[in-house]
Amino acid sequence: MMKTVASSMKSAAVLALLAAALAGAADNGFQACARCHAAQAAELDSAMAHTLMRAENCDVLKKHPRLTGEKDGYSYEIVREGERSIYTVRKGSETVSARLIWAFGEGNMAGQAYIFQWKGAWYDSRVSYYPEIRGLDVTMGFQGEQPGNIEQAAGRRLDVRLLMECFECHTTGEIKDSDLDHVTPGVLCDKCHGSSAPHLEAVRSGNAANFAMQKLGKLNTEQMANCCGRCHGDMLRLAANGETGPITVRFQAYRLAESPCYNEQDRRISCVTCHDPHQRLDARPADYDVKCQACHHAGLKKTCKVAVHDCVTCHMPKIEPPEAHHRFTDHQIRIARASAPYPE
Ligand code: HEC
Ligand code: HEC
Ligand code: HEC
Ligand code: HEC
Ligand code: HEC
Ligand code: HEC
Ligand code: HEC
Repeated sequence: MMKTVASSMKSAAVLALLAAALAGAADNGFQACARCHAAQAAELDSAMAHTLMRAENCDVLKKHPRLTGEKDGYSYEIVREGERSIYTVRKGSETVSARLIWAFGEGNMAGQAYIFQWKGAWYDSRVSYYPEIRGLDVTMGFQGEQPGNIEQAAGRRLDVRLLMECFECHTTGEIKDSDLDHVTPGVLCDKCHGSSAPHLEAVRSGNAANFAMQKLGKLNTEQMANCCGRCHGDMLRLAANGETGPITVRFQAYRLAESPCYNEQDRRISCVTCHDPHQRLDARPADYDVKCQACHHAGLKKTCKVAVHDCVTCHMPKIEPPEAHHRFTDHQIRIARASAPYPE
């Protein structure tokens, strides 16, 4: 890459800039963006960027060389042997044992689940690691399903379509011919902004006016909700799976749209008004007050008679879906009465 860049460079100043940019490209190609977009480069350390890793590189598995759990009469164990993590499920004399290949989920939010191959087929593990319990418990979505045999107790067999769906939302770039050996793990710059190749080419050839990257700041509130919502609240999936109840709290775009605060024309309620997708989630409630007060100020008819701080602690309640071991934030902003049922 360095060679083509050097041969096509015209200005020495730009060359120096690019050399510096590309020097950082060791980890993955996206390090190059950091030199010119320092403010956004923090994204490379975010949860989204680290939402998928190969088992051998997985911090959770490195930090916990032996994880165990027990469910429905089956015992579960993940043991680190050098670079490898071996997943073993036992009941009586029956055993399934396989090397874990992929770890899904950074492991700081809800669970971290694993993908492995057994007898030539792909599976996602029936148990996940949960930071809250520092151990293994049933993977979200598997609850209520009784395993009929040791194979089902180990995991769910994934056909290629389902397997590719997982990777589609947790990687960046095109996956050619279902080839998982060459995927770029994590949600990185190109996943949201489109291919950076033409952009880097334009920068390289000194044609700075011809940037072919998507300027997402131009999106209106509805377009932004759809942009984030293709992963955070896919309405079609919701409808297809017929999911209802507290599990839908994970579909933030859908929940927000159900709130009386939501207005598809009003940027004050856009995902990026409250979240910088290049930063880690801000967990201080007080920081969100100004976002609410942008609309709920004295000039507007409705203001709060109860409190003037930490609005989200009451109006965006934390909800724990069954066995999630994690409380998600309900984006259906509302007066949440303790006795009221979860609103659909
Ligand atoms: C050598 C410097 C340089 C590098 C390296 C670079 N960019 Fe840029 N990028 C620019 C400049 C200059 C602009 C135009 C900024 C403007 O118009 O305000 C830009 C614009 C953008 C935009 C916004 C589009 C727009 O028109 O404002 C995005 C998104 C973007 N770059 C992403 C990336 C990504 C992703 C990478 C890494 C794959 C990257 N850039 C690498 C210099 C660079
Ligand atoms: C390609 C799929 C995808 C898209 C598009 C996407 N996200 Fe994410 N996002 C994820 C995944 C996967 C995680 C889970 C990270 C983890 O493993 O903890 C996540 C996590 C997050 C988090 C929690 C981060 C943390 O530090 O805990 C926020 C906030 C977030 N996304 C906001 C956004 C916003 C805003 C947008 C739109 C601009 C967006 N996301 C677009 C996939 C996506
Ligand atoms: C439509 C996009 C999408 C698909 C498809 C998808 N994920 Fe995710 N995944 C996400 C997002 C977004 C998050 C962020 C957590 C949240 O807010 O629920 C996430 C989080 C996770 C987590 C962290 C724990 C959690 O639930 O928050 C695991 C584990 C995970 N996904 C595994 C998988 C596996 C395995 C598959 C395939 C069977 C899969 N995902 C398919 C978007 C997707
Ligand atoms: C999860 C989606 C997502 C990822 C991943 C992401 N961005 Fe962005 N980026 C956005 C959104 C949305 C905006 C608009 C933010 C706003 O208006 O407040 C944006 C804004 C920008 C801008 C300002 C120009 C513009 O588009 O409005 C630059 C430059 C940029 N991003 C570069 C990067 C770089 C470099 C990376 C990787 C290190 C990256 N982004 C990763 C979603 C993303
Ligand atoms: C009015 C402000 C606001 C808006 C708008 C908003 N969020 Fe959030 N979001 C929050 C707060 C507050 C949290 C919880 C922060 C904490 O306590 O850690 C949160 C948490 C999250 C999380 C982490 C998982 C969870 O549920 O706790 C994700 C992912 C997320 N938001 C995605 C989105 C997406 C996608 C959109 C746009 C459809 C959006 N948010 C719009 C305020 C907002
Ligand atoms: C884009 C402007 C906007 C933003 C930002 C906004 N709201 Fe609202 N909110 C509204 C509107 C409009 C209504 C409908 C009631 C009305 O007409 O005053 C409403 C209604 C409410 C209600 C009453 C709901 C009910 O069930 O009767 C509460 C509570 C509320 N908002 C709290 C918040 C909190 C907390 C935040 C920040 C997390 C927030 N809002 C952000 C515009 C907004
Ligand atoms: C301690 C919990 C709590 C906090 C913190 C809180 N509220 Fe409320 N809020 C309530 C309750 C309870 C009500 C319903 C009062 C009633 O019964 O009419 C309410 C009502 C509202 C309403 C509807 C008013 C109406 O006339 O219908 C809005 C808007 C609102 N809050 C916005 C906010 C904003 C903005 C903040 C932060 C500046 C905030 N709230 C902080 C508990 C809280």
